[in-house]
Amino acid sequence: MIKNKKILIVGAGGFIGGHLTKKLLENNNSIVAADIKPKEYWFQDFENVKNYYSMDMKEINNCRKVTKNIDYVFNMACNMGGMGFIENNKAECMQSVLINTNLLIACKEDGIKKYFFSSSACAYNKSKQQDVFVEGLKENDAYPADPEDGYGWEKLFSERMCRHFMEDYGIEVRIGRYHNIYGPYGTFDGGREKAPAALCRKVIEAKQNNKKKIEVWGDGKQTRTFLYIDDCIEGTLRLFESNYSEPVNIGSDEQVSINQMIEIIESVTNTKKLERVYQLDKPKGVRGRSSNNDLVKKILNWSFKIKLKEGLKKTYNWISGEMSKQGSNLSRFTKS
Ligand code: GDD
Repeated sequence: MIKNKKILIVGAGGFIGGHLTKKLLENNNSIVAADIKPKEYWFQDFENVKNYYSMDMKEINNCRKVTKNIDYVFNMACNMGGMGFIENNKAECMQSVLINTNLLIACKEDGIKKYFFSSSACAYNKSKQQDVFVEGLKENDAYPADPEDGYGWEKLFSERMCRHFMEDYGIEVRIGRYHNIYGPYGTFDGGREKAPAALCRKVIEAKQNNKKKIEVWGDGKQTRTFLYIDDCIEGTLRLFESNYSEPVNIGSDEQVSINQMIEIIESVTNTKKLERVYQLDKPKGVRGRSSNNDLVKKILNWSFKIKLKEGLKKTYNWISGEMSKQGSNLSRFTKS
């Protein structure tokens, strides 16, 4: 595990960035943390972060302010969300290309040795994701390129940018392709939430309001693999310390339909089966997506540990706790 290094985390106020910051602080690293959000909206608070910056990292001069005297850089920042956000905000999603590009330029100027880029399963070719319960996507399935429009194109292009900064300027890069990461301290309302948090919230709301129904986007048959945040952080740090510089899937092997995920939420929370109201006009994304984890097992000797059942229970309990709090604590997980 990385220890006693000076590390810049961009996007530290977000879901994955926040958990990464926590883990790296536990290992006695000195952290410089940056995020576009004002500090009161960062998803987690840390006492011993060395420097906080709330600034727009799309601006190169802001990147230049934070890359001095840094050992490693983790770029966890992008304007994103679940399908409800990325399908309706393609131009905004694509502008995250400025964060990665300007950060890489600043890293080059300041002689940064190693850089992590948080990519996404949305980088994969859509034609391989047209059925439910599909074969896991292998890393080379990203080409020929036909990624998710907007957000996926930005991720694929930025992966490529990282590769060329390594080839041309010698910055070591590591690239994780995340497959729907979920868990506590993530958005669960407001439009950016992904399916696990959204469906936990809807079940909680149904129980609170004594309703017998929940609304589900699509027909519920669409499939995904979901990865719990603790596994995501462990996979990310192991990948960072490996010698492998091509993109690697960070995902689970547990492929489920959205209907199956709702059944799991109901069963781990002793909820009586709710009637599903399928909303076919809502954003659905690809029909089926799953992660092939052969490469990550081979190069890192690592696999996910936390089963969906356990991860959803923890997520549900955390969201339920947040929803029962009133006022400002809630809003940081519901705003962009
Ligand atoms: N968000 C959401 N909210 N999705 C729902 C809901 C709901 O209430 N009900 C059903 N779904 C369905 C969506 O229609 C979609 O088919 C599926 O659940 C998964 O939706 P998301 O979790 O929002 O997104 P995704 O898996 O298609 O893509 C996400 O993961 C990618 C990485 O694997 C996004 O967060 C991407 O930004 C990310 O790159």
